[in-house]
Order: sequence, then structure tokens, then C-alpha cells
Amino acid sequence: MSVLKEITTTIQDVFSTLGYSLDKVNFVRCQRSELGDYQINDCMALAKKYRKNPREIAEEVASKLKENPYFSSVEVAGCGFINLRFADAFYLYLLNSMREDLFSNIDKMDAKKIVLDYGGANAAKALHVGHMRSANIGEALRRLAILLGNEVISDVHLGDMGRQAGMVISQLKREQPDLPWFQKDYQGEYPEIALTNEDLGRMYPEASKAAAESEERMQEVREITAMIDQGDVALTDLWKKIVRISSVGIQKTYDRLQTHFDLWEGEMDACQYKDDVLKVFDRFLYESDGALVIDVEKEDDAKEIPPLIVIKSDGSTIYATRDLGTLYSRMERFHPDEIWYVTDDRQSLYFEQIFRASYKTGLVPSSTFLGHYSFGTINGSDGRPFKTRDGGVMELSMLLDLVKEEVSKRMREDIVGREREEIAEDLTIATIKYADLLPFRGTDYIFDVSKFSELEGKTGPYLLYSTIRMKSLLNRAEDAQIPFSLALELKGGLDSKVVLELLSLPLVLEHAYQEKSLNEVCEYLYRLASSYNTFYAENHILTEENASLQKTWLTLTKVVYDVISLLLDTLAIKGPEKM
Ligand code: ARG
Repeated sequence: MSVLKEITTTIQDVFSTLGYSLDKVNFVRCQRSELGDYQINDCMALAKKYRKNPREIAEEVASKLKENPYFSSVEVAGCGFINLRFADAFYLYLLNSMREDLFSNIDKMDAKKIVLDYGGANAAKALHVGHMRSANIGEALRRLAILLGNEVISDVHLGDMGRQAGMVISQLKREQPDLPWFQKDYQGEYPEIALTNEDLGRMYPEASKAAAESEERMQEVREITAMIDQGDVALTDLWKKIVRISSVGIQKTYDRLQTHFDLWEGEMDACQYKDDVLKVFDRFLYESDGALVIDVEKEDDAKEIPPLIVIKSDGSTIYATRDLGTLYSRMERFHPDEIWYVTDDRQSLYFEQIFRASYKTGLVPSSTFLGHYSFGTINGSDGRPFKTRDGGVMELSMLLDLVKEEVSKRMREDIVGREREEIAEDLTIATIKYADLLPFRGTDYIFDVSKFSELEGKTGPYLLYSTIRMKSLLNRAEDAQIPFSLALELKGGLDSKVVLELLSLPLVLEHAYQEKSLNEVCEYLYRLASSYNTFYAENHILTEENASLQKTWLTLTKVVYDVISLLLDTLAIKGPEKM
């Protein structure tokens, strides 16, 4: 149990000893620090329930809490708030507990098995900034869920079916018409295909431009796509090989983003479950314009939820069929408690349809929770979706280059060569991830490269810089053989403020998990780092003459360093030793 929860439970016990029952004590940070450190806000509600004066209840509770040595002051204010200040004894207890084990101030949850679907890159197409958001948010949620004690199975759900297959293959056919896959009477084994990711990066846009200009070409694209859906031997073999090449490139980008997938499955894998899905859906499907659809609307819908198309009029599968197939397979193989999807908010209606259809047909039992955690758009300074200077789509690789150029300018001059390159890479990823996770998941934000790369303020570089400084202080203390074990004494003021920040760690993690958004974690990281930095600027830890204060401060540095490292790791941000 976290120290925060321990102290909250103590307060709850006081209420119940006095005969007041509460589900949960509303114990929160005081908005105005001059009033107290934390505040209890329950007396007003209890007053209604027990028909008493709120101040009277507050006084009763306060007089009991005053006996507790962990509080240095307990005061009733306003219409029944209780404002509390923690005593040094409490701060030292918290600090020493966290020094022993960080998890003494983190609450584990009842473990769940969660399938997490994020990333969602499309084979043979460049990753764009939206795929990056899915990777950043998804990976952080994966790590957070694991940190809090859950079992997570992550799956990239590769977009390896659909129009891009027809596009790339139609292009290949023009460039290399003699390849065996294009020969009608070819009998032998198909070879490997000699294409690079650069080739693929060029071919898709070329084909897509050509198809936009010629209906004939578009028709060819559709035909190839449909043939692969129907399992044409030659084209399927060719496409699978192209997907494999593309996956290597995609994987490299995900590695750069520190993103880990337990499963590297895709839409193609889901096709094998088409018949299983149709069997489960059978009595719910009807024909509409030749397609097979299922109604998913409900009586109390505020807006129209159209039927979901499960099979297209030409009999082929679509995105939805593949998601349903994937759900079938996930339920069969993993029996998860929850399945989470992380995509942009334009897919919200789609997932609503998929979830409703799955519950209605029993494809997914009601005991399994399905959640779509959508995110907003990354915009340019004009407030419109982020574009390149010439108005083209912002591919992820371009964005990474842009940020790298900017963070490199702010690096120390004496870091050179390969090391410079590696550190610039770490800074780039930290800059992007922190900026991407700082706003609430659902909101759009403006991508401001120079602001995000600053060494001050709410930025990735500021946090990395802060941890480097803490680490160096700890190293110097070790070199100077300054012993530090238990924290024994506080000066009060700035050092206590840092410990006070440490107290709220479990609450921050709980909220982030509930909201499936890392914004509070990012804010907290900044608060913790800057309160530590303020303390650090005012005190000379290594030359402090009071040995027991010095011990406490080193312990404090170590715990803050460990908490920040843990949280950065949760955001999938890796820190360099210097910068
Ligand atoms: N490939 C899709 C896209 O680029 C995202 C996939 C999301 N996951 C899913 N199970 N549909 O939009």
C-alpha cells in the first residue's frame, strides 16, 4: 500500500471511529499552500448525511487528528474544510520508505489481462505523425499498465491489406513486367523479391498519383487488391514478401520510438477467421446493396449510428471484417479482460460500431471490456494539420529529422562524433515524446519544434538535463565517499516541498491510468524536477556541514532521481549521461 493510501486510511479510520462512514476520503493537495499541505473535503457531504453542522464534524475529526505525530498542524477552515500540515516525522518516514523501495509509494491494482492494439502502421506506406502518436501513447499506456501490475499483450495490428497492395504491385508491374509473379504460366517456386524500403517509399506515392489521374489505373489497383483478398497464389506470395520487407523498415522506426510489440500480427492474419466471424454473425446479418451488414443502433442513440458493413458487395473483406477476425482470434487465444485500441479520433464511430456488433453477436462477451482511446491531431502553427513546408503530408521521418536538427544546436560543443549522434537521437525522441504526451490525449496540439527543444520549461530536454545533474551530484558524493543511508533531519521549507511532491506519486499514476492519458505524469515530472531544482539552487549539498542534513539531501536526490527515471521510462524516454 502506498504511503499516501496509508495516511488516507488513517484518516478514514478516524471518521469511522467517530461514527461517520465514508467510501473514500477526499484527501487532496491544498490549492493555496499558505493554508496547508493537504486538505480533507468530506465534512460538508457528511453534514448533509448526518444532519449536523459541517464545522462540528470537522472539529471532532481535527481534534483526533491532532494526536497524530505525522501532522504538525490541523485546522478547521471555512464551512468545514480541514487543512493539514505534515510534520518532519512524516516526511522522513515517506522518504526512507521510498529509498528502501520505490513501490512503497505506488499502489498495485487487481491484475488484469489486457490486449493493447496500437501502432497500426500500414505496410508499404510511410508512417505519418498520427502513427507516431499511437505509438507514443500506446507504448506509455503499455508500460503504465505493467507498472501497476497488469499483464499486457501488445499488438501492432499492421495494416497489410487494402489499397496499398494494389498500388505498389501495379507500380511494380510497370517497372519490372518480367517478374515471375506476373507470368500467367509460371510453374516454379517464387524467388525473393529484390526491393528496398526506399523503393517502396517511392513506389506508393507514384502509383497513387497515377491512379488519381487515370480511372483505368485505379481499376487495375482495385482488381489486384481484390485478387489478393481472394487468395490469388502469385499475387499473395508477392505481396507477403513486400510486406516482410516493409515490416523491417517499420520495425526500425518503432525501435527508434522505444516501442515494443509482443505480437507483430496484421490484417492479413485476421482473414483466416473470416468464416468464424460469419458463423457467429450469421443470424444478425442482412443484405444491403449487395453487401452484408449488421444493425448496431440503439434506441437511445443521440446521433445516428449506421449499420456496419461486414462483407463488401463483391464478397471481399474490409477493414472491419479484419478487425472482427482479430477480435475472434484474441478472444480464443487470450481470453483478455480488456482490449484497448489507440487510434486517432476519426475512427471513433467505427470502433463504436465494431464494439456494438461484437457484443450484440456474442463475438465478445460482456465481461470483456472494449475501449477506444482516441487522440487528437498534431497541428502546425497555423492551427491546421501539420504539413511540410511545401504543403505535403508530414511523414514521421521528416519530423524526427526536424527535431534532431533543433536539439543538436543546443548540445554541448565538446560532444562529438558517434557519441554526439547517439545523444542527439536520445534527445530527439525525448523531445518528441514529452511534447506528445504533455497535452491530454484527446486534444489537438501545435507542434512547435523550437519550444519543445528548449532546455527550460515543460520539455523533454529540461527533464533529461535535470536528471543528468542529479546523477552527477550522486556520483560526486560517492567519489567523495560521503555516506548516506537513512534520512534523519530536514531543514524545512524547500526540501520538505520536494518530499511533499513525492507523496502524490500514486495519485498521479492512478489518474493517468483511469484517463488513459499521460498528461498528468508529464506535468508531475515537471513539478517534481523543478521543485527539486529550486531546492538544489538554494543549498550546497556537497559542502553542507550538518552531516545529518547532508544525508537527508542525498537521500532526497536519490529518490527524486529514481522516481523521475521510473516515470521517464514509463513514457519510453531514455536519458543520456550528458548532453
Ligand atoms: N492501420 C490503421 C490506420 O492507419 C490503424 C489500425 C488501428 N487498429 C485497429 N485494430 N483497427 O489507420
